[in-house]
Amino acid sequence: MQKIKHIGLFTSGGDAPGMNACIRAVVRTALYNGLFVTGIHEGYQGMLDNKLEPMNSRSVSNIIQLGGTILKTARCKEFRTLEGRKRAYANIMAAGIDALVAIGGDGTFTGAEIFSREFNIPVIGIPGTIDNDLYGTDFTLGFDTAANTVIEAIDKIRDTAAAHDRLFFVEVMGRDSGCIALNAGIAGGAEAILLPERSTALEELIKQLENASGKKTSTIVIVAEGEENGGAYNVAKHVKDHFDFYDTKVTILGHLQRGGAPSSFDRVLASRLGFAAVNQLLEGNTRIMVGLRGNMIKTTSLEESLNNKEFKLADDMMTMCNILSI
Ligand code: F6P
Repeated sequence: MQKIKHIGLFTSGGDAPGMNACIRAVVRTALYNGLFVTGIHEGYQGMLDNKLEPMNSRSVSNIIQLGGTILKTARCKEFRTLEGRKRAYANIMAAGIDALVAIGGDGTFTGAEIFSREFNIPVIGIPGTIDNDLYGTDFTLGFDTAANTVIEAIDKIRDTAAAHDRLFFVEVMGRDSGCIALNAGIAGGAEAILLPERSTALEELIKQLENASGKKTSTIVIVAEGEENGGAYNVAKHVKDHFDFYDTKVTILGHLQRGGAPSSFDRVLASRLGFAAVNQLLEGNTRIMVGLRGNMIKTTSLEESLNNKEFKLADDMMTMCNILSI
């Protein structure tokens, strides 16, 4: 086993609160162990464009509390081609990088897995996405913060909804994942939740809302952006005529869910995962993701993580939400 000497660290895909805390943990754990660290700016795009920056302990001062990512991030089409990956490899070899730590979601891990196999470079993945949609970890970095941001917004919407007897459709992020919608919906006392993973006919939704209507001063429906009816505006258009005693409004929360200071949970998770990632490389491991399962740091091969989809919330959560909103 050849000992690694120089880690290339990058964030890729959608940014998530906690990425900076994780960058800090990777850099400082690596330095503590006598390794060099190069920050690769803008993910795979930066590998192609040679956007590399040597990092020291002070490069990561005062960032644990910041949202976004100091390394910047991007979604990169060229890295999907072998030509692109060859160029990226040549650049990181020239910089002396002999191992990678990738912070991101499934797109990031797909690229990392292929790249590592093609060029035999060790790589460890750290799950960073507000979507919480990766197999092998109970939580991804940024999910807790994003869910709390959504709950804060729902609470505020509830105030004005109740003041006017209004029906609100609140759209939250999650193209393929309903984790934010379900968690924030339950914590915000939503009357109904529409998820990408579950089919909800509009007639069913109308019936559900009618069951509670009349008794309520406000009704909030959480709509995950990827659900099958085409988003909050579409759902509202089809449902509002059934509730003429309610004024109907739509709020799209959008990218504000991705920003903001990471919660205490995300900062601790980020620190643990960053620390674990470097230690995994030092132990000679590769093509694995470090994750949190039952409050323990566990590893899962990138392949296994990518080949499995996991709905992170028990099925009975939806039933519970419906019962608690009567
Ligand atoms: O993957 C995180 C995420 O925020 C999804 O929930 C959302 O669908 C997507 O990214 C939005 O991506 P972009 O910022 O590129 O529009």
